[in-house]
Amino acid sequence: MKSVKLIVHGGAGDISSDTLGIYQKNLKEIWQSGYNLLKEGWDSLSVVEKVISLIEDTGVFDAGTGSFPNKEGYIEMDASIMTSDGRAGAVGGVRTIRNPIRLARLVMEETSHVMLVGEGAERFAEQFNLPPLTPRESPYSISTDTVGAVAMDKRGLISAGTSTGGIRGKIPGRIGDSPIIGAGTYASFWGGISSTGFGEDIIKFGLAKKIDILLRQFPAQMAVDMVVEESKYRGIEFGVIVLDRLGNTGVGYTAKAMAWYPR
Ligand code: GLY
Repeated sequence: MKSVKLIVHGGAGDISSDTLGIYQKNLKEIWQSGYNLLKEGWDSLSVVEKVISLIEDTGVFDAGTGSFPNKEGYIEMDASIMTSDGRAGAVGGVRTIRNPIRLARLVMEETSHVMLVGEGAERFAEQFNLPPLTPRESPYSISTDTVGAVAMDKRGLISAGTSTGGIRGKIPGRIGDSPIIGAGTYASFWGGISSTGFGEDIIKFGLAKKIDILLRQFPAQMAVDMVVEESKYRGIEFGVIVLDRLGNTGVGYTAKAMAWYPR
């Protein structure tokens, strides 16, 4: 029986210390409820889905109800989820679903595809009676405060997930890194990763998959430190949480600040 692990994040960027305090308070409470579920025997996939849904519902972060509107004033959200046994699901450009992370899991479990976007994702969602989005733009959120979680359950299954409203004022139809498997989220035998930051950079850098490859040789924090070092030469703004297969956590960011728990 493995000891359970959970790490959550609430984004990285130019976060003021007051806002960081609000983010940390929310993350701590949600982390505690997720950790309790893991100790009760919940699987890591369900816990990651649950804690990210709770974060989406706070309205405080740029995800779910707190998502930024795009250039034309409406919300388009992205999310993804992956397990260390090789399952993955994602949604992009979702407009009406309260919890995109739940829809990402449904894509994973109820289709033969990895990602559904836009109208097709919305039509797919209709059959599951998911709660509708009730937007209330966060008074706190900054331009890249995507949220995410990585967990290991008693059986040793690792799951990782990420959810976002994307960048404020984005062009309608823009998809960031968060639903891209290997950029915003990744999980494998070696560990699990959830990213935050400037999506265009993260996609081109291949952030999550890059860390996954490093986890074959290095513990989580060392793998994170190596990508932070590499990214300095390329001016990439990101934050990342990592859990390796031995239960070690790693956290790093090149942005000015990052919210995560436990810290
Ligand atoms: N990292 C979130 C985004 O760029 O959409």
